[in-house]
Amino acid sequence: MPKKSIVDLKSKKQTGEKITMLTAYDYPTAELLDEAGVDSILVGDSLGNVVLGYESTVSVTLEDMIHHGRAVARAVSSALVVLDLPFMTYQISREQAMANSGRAVQETGVDAVKVEGGREIAEAVEGITSAGIPVLGHLGLTPQSVGQMGGFKVQGKDLETARRMVEDAKTLEEAGAFGIVLECVPWQLAGFISRLVSIPVIGIGAGKECDGQVLVYHDVMGLYTGKRPRFVKQYAEARKEMEKGIRAYLDEVNNSAFPQQEHSFEMDEKVMDDLKRNLQES
Ligand code: KIV
Repeated sequence: MPKKSIVDLKSKKQTGEKITMLTAYDYPTAELLDEAGVDSILVGDSLGNVVLGYESTVSVTLEDMIHHGRAVARAVSSALVVLDLPFMTYQISREQAMANSGRAVQETGVDAVKVEGGREIAEAVEGITSAGIPVLGHLGLTPQSVGQMGGFKVQGKDLETARRMVEDAKTLEEAGAFGIVLECVPWQLAGFISRLVSIPVIGIGAGKECDGQVLVYHDVMGLYTGKRPRFVKQYAEARKEMEKGIRAYLDEVNNSAFPQQEHSFEMDEKVMDDLKRNLQES
């Protein structure tokens, strides 16, 4: 399949076809998703929660993201790969955002970066896009600033916050973002914003009227043991299947049922006899 670009995502919005996005943080998962035909892979900073065992995404560093971004980019031949810029790597200044985005794409081979926030990061978005790097925005529940939001709550339920989100979406579009992720937003507001802006809106907990959907791979596959948000639908029981496999392996090793002859290599009996005699004589 040919390599997908931001133009392909924009044309999907125009033709009304849904955009599919899932997270991945390693080579085999990225290869699997790419072969399955996902439009875009997000190397999310959810990496911190689902892979690195951190309490929140705030602990994730640019080095962590680059390490995992490289593995994903190496595996992918078709999907558009987007890498999350982690906490405090783009908020300080336009220059900081440009320099770190440059590192992110140059050192990994990903296609685009994602940043959280609205008007307060508009200058950063302008700077990054002016350097030719595609930027995906992220509004609504933004996990990097969850402390300020008072927890993992639905965003934009009242007039003031809904209005602010609409304005932020327009600001991100004007600043050059090629799309926006809307997280934990009432479906009516998410649908309204999707129709208002000309760039693709990809929802997570934002209803079916968005132009596309994104979920965290570990949630979808049943691999994460932490709290699962209400908006997640689990499509497989991968952890249970893996547990079964691990227990079967342990049992077979403990009972000497593995390995069998078919898993073993053979040598000439005569060489073995010669070796034993040789050792006795010396
Ligand atoms: O880090 C992440 O996985 C994300 C998605 C939840 C959109 O930002």
